[in-house]
Amino acid sequence: MLIDQQDKSRIDAEIRMMDGVAVLTIRNPPVNAGSHAVRKGLADGLAAAVRNGASGAVIVGDGRCFMAGSDLKEFGKKLEWPELPDVIRLVEDAPFPVVAAMHGVALGGGLELALGCDYRLAAPGTMVGLPEVSLGFVPGAGGTQRLPRLTGLVHGIDLICAARRIPADQAATIGLVDRVVEGDLLAGALAFLAGAARPKRLTMALTPPADDPVAIDAAADKALHRGKGRPNVAEAIRLIRRAAEGDGADALADERAVFQRLRVGEDATALRHLFFSERRAAAVDGLDMGLARAVGSVGVIGGGTMGQGIVRCFLAAGLPVTLVERDRDALARAMSGVRGSLDAALEKGRLTPDEAARRKAAVTGATGYDALSGCDLAIEAVFEDMQVKRDVLGRLERVLAPDAILATNTSYLDIDAMAEGLAHRGRVVGLHFFSPADVMPLLEVVRTDMTDNATLATALKLARKLGKQPVVARVAEGFIGNRIYAAYRRRAELLVLDGANPEQVDRAATAFGFAMGPFAVADMSGLDIAWAMRKRQAPTRDPRARYVTIPDTLCEIGRLGRKTGGGWYDYPQGKPVPSEQVAAVIAKARQAAGVVPVGIDDDAIQRQLLAAIVNEAALLLEQGVAQRPSDVDVTLCNGYGFPRWRGGPLWWAAHQDRAAIRDDQARLADAIGYGFVAGPVDRMLDSIVSEHKG
Ligand code: NAI
Repeated sequence: MLIDQQDKSRIDAEIRMMDGVAVLTIRNPPVNAGSHAVRKGLADGLAAAVRNGASGAVIVGDGRCFMAGSDLKEFGKKLEWPELPDVIRLVEDAPFPVVAAMHGVALGGGLELALGCDYRLAAPGTMVGLPEVSLGFVPGAGGTQRLPRLTGLVHGIDLICAARRIPADQAATIGLVDRVVEGDLLAGALAFLAGAARPKRLTMALTPPADDPVAIDAAADKALHRGKGRPNVAEAIRLIRRAAEGDGADALADERAVFQRLRVGEDATALRHLFFSERRAAAVDGLDMGLARAVGSVGVIGGGTMGQGIVRCFLAAGLPVTLVERDRDALARAMSGVRGSLDAALEKGRLTPDEAARRKAAVTGATGYDALSGCDLAIEAVFEDMQVKRDVLGRLERVLAPDAILATNTSYLDIDAMAEGLAHRGRVVGLHFFSPADVMPLLEVVRTDMTDNATLATALKLARKLGKQPVVARVAEGFIGNRIYAAYRRRAELLVLDGANPEQVDRAATAFGFAMGPFAVADMSGLDIAWAMRKRQAPTRDPRARYVTIPDTLCEIGRLGRKTGGGWYDYPQGKPVPSEQVAAVIAKARQAAGVVPVGIDDDAIQRQLLAAIVNEAALLLEQGVAQRPSDVDVTLCNGYGFPRWRGGPLWWAAHQDRAAIRDDQARLADAIGYGFVAGPVDRMLDSIVSEHKG
């Protein structure tokens, strides 16, 4: 019997009777999001099970998973009856035991539903978790009350506040899952019910396993620190602590009220924008993803910082890799770098011995290109030099199959120019990883004018396999991210020239929410990369444009950043402290430029840093370098430490007072002076606002 027959998309829950047990199947492809129709279907299914005199019920998910979470599209509006807590109440009130049989993923509302059941079974590898805190709110259907009643408060705080997902076997060891079921899940669940008397067992009636109060406080402190003071983290902790206090019904009502308030708040609205933007960024309108080719083995050319990270990333995705270096010594260094990092991961318990061994066996080194002949894709990560890269692509073309993909990890270079002279230019694409390549989520997929659709589709599919967040860009100096970042860094440097200290600029940036300030970032990644770029640009730089010589001077005196013991800061004990030497360089640069330093407050610094980002984004959107404004938000949040809870720079700007944004742009124009190009900021922000309303 299908509930909600009139719903043509069959978004529903289905009920079947099997040996007196009601089997309720959640069906809302592709990920069984808990929409209103699903909740209604479950409520009707439970009522039917009661009517039919069922002896028990099993809830399963159809297709790929149990339930990936509630339907976020409903979260900006008023929720309709039955809400998830209503469904869970029906589960609890049912006169028979209800088993959640989970596979794939059970996240958010999906896990809360399972927590409301009497028993939880899971197929091996099922991932469970409550991601609500990462979306700006708190679990709202009992997650903060039921999860700690099973696991204790320490695990509860850790899992909920870090929005951590854990696999079923781990969930079983902390009491979150009763049993991991090998083989057929539904049969296993029916056998579980049939094999022993399974009384009702309401999670709300349990007392949390006792935890040491000191450990609870420590978990709370850690979560608050990691949560950067966002209000929902503190609320989640307060609610989880209530799970140990016994007043269950009151605590559930408290949780629901907090959830209802926060889910429509600024953080949650911004994070939802980012959630949908991230999904959109992985697609090119009109592109047939069916064209994507399988990638079964890959080649990486250049085993330096990036090459090694890229190798680790492919290995983690289960792809065999051939690494090519220019000579035996360089190859030995690169291979021992890769193996050493696998050993370190093993030592830290991040890899099992089997997995570490598998990954080591899956990487082969070579100094000749013939070893790459069977690869479906090769990516170069050699020196950032046009001629070297052209030469590498030429050699690759000679050994790889004509439809194998040739990718470049260049940060700034013109990929169209790089591909000139190749016979099959359609298969050239930029895959711009961020450092460390196996950790940073962002992957810019750069299409040249010649990149064909099959190559683009393959690159996007590969990104998903690697667990990366792709953003599609067109060729431009620095593509989306580095181009915007260069404008931001330039503004930061001008702020210093005009009167701010590097530490003040960094403080203002981190107070806004950036993971690090621009000068701390420069020290970490090394000042020499941007220096090389400036030297390349020097011949075409207009002498009338303002130019900050400070970073060049720092490079000239050997202050290349952390790797040389100092850059914008000194690092006496590994921690950045302001440098007198740098202060002297700054003073001299001001003098040479005829600048009389003027104080500027932190708020003005923040607004100017943002103005530079917003202006550059408007320019590159106008030029078609990025497909849509939301792609800029995704880029900055996933690759540049922009605070996610602000939704990205353009979302932030679209929700500021427009006159203030215009004023910021005017000040930016003044500060940059000659050569400033004003981007169509107003138009861009209007489009964001109208799309959001629509
Ligand atoms: P790196 O200097 O650490 O590594 C380059 C490696 O390529 C060296 O091991 C070198 O021996 C090898 N190599 C040079 N010519 C070769 C050839 N003809 N055949 C085989 N191997 C060759 O440089 P890094 O930082 O890894 O950068 C590599 C590329 O990645 C550059 O294009 C860079 O712009 C880009 N990139 C760098 C990022 C970073 O944060 N370092 C971030 C994103 C991209």
